[in-house]
Amino acid sequence: MPMYDETVAVIENRVLTGGHFLLSLDAPRQAPAVRPGQFAMVRILGRSDVLLRRPMSIFDVTSKDGREGGPGKVQKLGVLQLLYKVVGRGTRLMAELKPGDRVGLLAPLGHGFFEEEYLPRAHAADEILHVAGGIGIAALLLPAKHLAEAGFKQRLFFGARTKGDLVGLEEFKPLMRGSLFATENGSSGYRGFVTRPLEDYFTAHTNKKFLLMVCGPWAMLRATVELAKRFRHPCLVSMENRMGCGLGVCLGCSIRVEGTGHEAYQRVCTEGPVFWAEKIVWETEKKLGIRE
Ligand SMILES: Cc1cc2nc3c(=O)[nH]c(=O)nc-3n(C[C@H](O)[C@H](O)[C@H](O)COP(=O)(O)OP(=O)(O)OC[C@H]3O[C@@H](n4cnc5c(N)ncnc54)[C@H](O)[C@@H]3O)c2cc1C
Ligand code: FES
Repeated sequence: MPMYDETVAVIENRVLTGGHFLLSLDAPRQAPAVRPGQFAMVRILGRSDVLLRRPMSIFDVTSKDGREGGPGKVQKLGVLQLLYKVVGRGTRLMAELKPGDRVGLLAPLGHGFFEEEYLPRAHAADEILHVAGGIGIAALLLPAKHLAEAGFKQRLFFGARTKGDLVGLEEFKPLMRGSLFATENGSSGYRGFVTRPLEDYFTAHTNKKFLLMVCGPWAMLRATVELAKRFRHPCLVSMENRMGCGLGVCLGCSIRVEGTGHEAYQRVCTEGPVFWAEKIVWETEKKLGIRE
């Protein structure tokens, strides 16, 4: 799979609500190579205090005029977009980027949502349910676009702390049959965690088959996986462990999976970031540095 380590220019760094930004990068070699579910590593240039690259899901790929969204439209796609939330030093520096500034971009990385495995299960499902927690929404747009192009019926369940954290929705709207929101403070949609309306949906549709695609913080991932297991729906999770190299070398992103010896660990950056939920040993996951 092609992957390029380049210095690219910022086209736009749009301010969204709740400390979120949409960063558009001029990446003519990297953007056309992106597959749904892959990620990028961003390096802030000229800052010796922020040496490690920061991993970010590839939110979208588009053309400079913004008209050609989605993967697969080779040559026209020169813009790679990242949707991010400011949480610490690296993302604070990203938020200061202006059009024309340059960043290091290593992309595309990871296996992504490997369609050869999920498509048979998608065909067997009545609906694909995307379940996002907070900035986890960033990992789900490209898979949703890909599935919409193939004619699948999809629905979004999006949970966040507050209304301001419900970002990126404009892009999802045309792809979904419906969307359901939950906020912890009740400022938009259901008050509480998104797993509650999801459970209600499962209960109301016990005759239907769903395939879940999930990304979000650890507790939300785990609760969603438990629900999917209880209602017997297959579930793909996109993991966001802390990363060092992003290239499969440092082993810093390893998670416990079913198996023994060497086979009991897989690297989120290379074998993932997307895994079948049943493959992961969830009991140990929290100790291995995933986002809480
Ligand atoms: C595959 C992958 C995809 C990701 N996609 C996105 C995305 O699309 N948008 C986005 O905003 N973020 C995403 N993240 C999380 C993002 O990488 C971190 O928020 C970022 O590295 C924090 O850098 P910082 O220097 O600002 O924060 P730091 O100063 O390093 O840390 C500040 C706070 O953020 C927490 N943090 C650090 N790394 C992570 C992490 N990997 N996950 C969660 N919390 C973390 C720390 O525990 C700390 O509380 C992704 C992570 C991975 C591994
Ligand atoms: S981040 Fe280094 S092996 Fe995955």
